[in-house]
Formats: sequence, structure tokens, C-alpha cells
Amino acid sequence: MIYFVTSNLGKFEEARYILGELEMKNIGYTEVQADTLEEVVQFGLREVQAKITAPIMIEDAGVFITSLNGFPGVYSAYVQRTIGNDGILGLMQNRVDRRAFFRSVVGYVEPGLEPVIFRGEVHGTIGFKACGSMGFGYDPIFYVGNKSLAEMNIAEKNMISHRGKSLALFKQWLTDR
Ligand code: IMP
Repeated sequence: MIYFVTSNLGKFEEARYILGELEMKNIGYTEVQADTLEEVVQFGLREVQAKITAPIMIEDAGVFITSLNGFPGVYSAYVQRTIGNDGILGLMQNRVDRRAFFRSVVGYVEPGLEPVIFRGEVHGTIGFKACGSMGFGYDPIFYVGNKSLAEMNIAEKNMISHRGKSLALFKQWLTDR
């Protein structure tokens, strides 16, 4: 059994859809202030590893908006909590370049193994309005083609998403070893 340390049920459901056997563990860890998602994941893994002796995964994601020079990026959780999707739409109001991408970094460790890391990205655009009610976080304002991620069910989102890709690589690694 793999434990997915997260407080985000949406993430957990997406991961379980791909990995199958998975248990959610909402024990929290420090999301360090760092310049990359990889650093956040590596630090988090070490902290969680010290608490649980079992196979564990964590995942950190962020949305990087081109015309905002990659903002909010590693600060995506803080920005979602503070200004939210309306705040982002406001910041983007007069911007023509709507390009953005999501990045997901999955970290996995088990007793006696060096941590491994898997990455995935999805490129899309920040819309002019929020649409859809599925998913979580930035999903309603992040579009791939003319559909927001919040208009996709888990199966559809996993097929194209940053997390779908990082988790598929993780699953392949689990199968191959
Ligand atoms: P974290 O990976 O939990 O730190 O997430 C950073 C922020 O990005 C949080 O506010 C999440 O809600 C948001 N986020 C992470 N993954 C996704 C996603 O797949 N869709 C939309 N928002 C996401």
C-alpha cells in the first residue's frame, strides 16, 4: 500500500484513478519557500519519511502564467488562498498573451530506497472567465482548447493533465522495477 500524503481530496481522487491502491494520509508537511517544486517535494519527502515508515508519495503542483513571468508558480497555493481565481482573472484583464502551464512533481520514497521524482506538464491558457464545477483550485480558469479543466471529469482531466502525466510515469516506474 502506498500512502499519499495530502490534504487535497481532488488530488487524491485523481491519483487513485491512475494508481489504484492508494491511501490518503492527511498529516501535513512543511511547504518550504523555495524556487522550484522539486525542492518543495524533496524537503517534504524527508520530513514525511521521518514520521512514517512505509511507501509514501507526495505531490506539489503550480500554475505558471507566461505574461506574469511565471507567477504564481511555487506560490500557487498562497495565491489561490488569498486572491483566488477572481484575483488572477483581474491581473490578466488586459493581457493578450493568455498562455500558462501547470507543472506537477510527484515524489516517492519507501524504506531503503532513494527518493524518486516524476514530472508532468500541461500547457493551456487562462480564460476570460471561470467555467465548470468539477476539479479544484485553478481548474475553472485554466483552459485546454476551449474547455476548462473544471469542465472535465477525472478521466478526461487525467488524460491531459500535468498530474495525469507525472502519475503515469510513476505508475510505469512501479510496473517496470
Ligand atoms: P499544491 O500542489 O497543493 O501546493 O497546490 C498549489 C495550488 O495549485 C493549490 O491552490 C491547488 O489548489 C492548485 N492546484 C494544484 N493542482 C491543481 C490542478 O490540477 N488544478 C487546479 N488547481 C490546482
